Amino acid sequence: MADSEPVAAGLPIQREAECVVDDLTGAALEARARQLLPRAVYDYYAGGSETETTLHEAPLAWHRWRLRPRMLSGVAAPDLTTTLLGTPVSSPIGVPPWALQRMAHPDGELATAAACARAGTLMTVSTTATVPLAQVAAVAPDSAKWFQLYQVHGPAYTDDLVRRAADAGYRALVLTVDLPILGRRLRDIANDFQLPEGLVMANHPDQADIRSDAEMPAPPVVGSGVSVRRLSQALDSADKTPPWTYAAVEHFAGLTDLPVVVKGVLRGDDAVGCLDAGASAVWVSTHGGRQVDRAISSAAALVDVVSAVSERAEVYVDGGIRSGTDALVALVLGARAVFCGRPIIWGLATGGADGVAAVLARLRAELVHSMTLCGVASVERVPRDLVTI
Ligand code: LAC
Repeated sequence: MADSEPVAAGLPIQREAECVVDDLTGAALEARARQLLPRAVYDYYAGGSETETTLHEAPLAWHRWRLRPRMLSGVAAPDLTTTLLGTPVSSPIGVPPWALQRMAHPDGELATAAACARAGTLMTVSTTATVPLAQVAAVAPDSAKWFQLYQVHGPAYTDDLVRRAADAGYRALVLTVDLPILGRRLRDIANDFQLPEGLVMANHPDQADIRSDAEMPAPPVVGSGVSVRRLSQALDSADKTPPWTYAAVEHFAGLTDLPVVVKGVLRGDDAVGCLDAGASAVWVSTHGGRQVDRAISSAAALVDVVSAVSERAEVYVDGGIRSGTDALVALVLGARAVFCGRPIIWGLATGGADGVAAVLARLRAELVHSMTLCGVASVERVPRDLVTI
């Protein structure tokens, strides 16, 4: 990336020309990333909360579904193009928000954005990005991108962040509502996880940037040495940010013309509540198994949410999607898009923008392959009777 300074000089990351993406589940790629990344960084990305039960069950929950393929369909070249809240994308497999990407690779979010733009893939940029939201957007001004919102440093700062996201060209606002407090990630606690020297949470205010709000205690989350405790203070509602409620959904839906997506919903009744409060779509997620340990899997929750929402709105899902076949199962169960997190992280860690592009290409090719074998012509018309448990 031409415009990225070597901010991560000193991070023990080796750049690799060659990317390992020929394995079906991405396990070899993860193993490679694990070799390259410092232990605490690998654990931060790979880990879940508490016993990591939800983390481990996520891929298995997709895997237990069995396909009922249609033969004699004549499908030769399935169509993966679709729209997400009206935005055209080349595939229903998108990139979810994930934090602190410059820990994985010096180009961080800039590399992920470049790869997504190249692939025509939707990228969701996190509030906890290590590159300012406008700079990420500028990498690919015309490509599909959404902004994920945490409420940080009080209402005035957060509302301003939303306006800045809209100005920068993000096309939807994704409220991550499953983090009223940070989950207990035991690996991070054991490692005494710190944001590496030289990296910043670029969308958080630093001391010099504090607005007039008296309610902003402004812990110094920008700068080096952000610890788990600081991360927690910066994000959760202990820091005088309003709690996530239906009123908060209503507030953000009224604040912006951007459609609002509520991410982190695991129940049909919550999904309906969000739509009633003004959300345009819901996103089923366990936050990568990093929040409620022993929560229901995304695959199981998707069935309930899709049934409750009943065609009223688009439903998306993430959590444990590791292959194109997993993606197909999720589409059959009613998701309009799936988001694939950790494999993309390992792609970025091992190969920067090329690594992300390679993972996206692998997932796309697998989805094409599965759809062809199962006789599905278009991701917009996936027969609902194509799976059984
Ligand atoms: C996490 C937050 C920052 O999962 O989204 O670490």
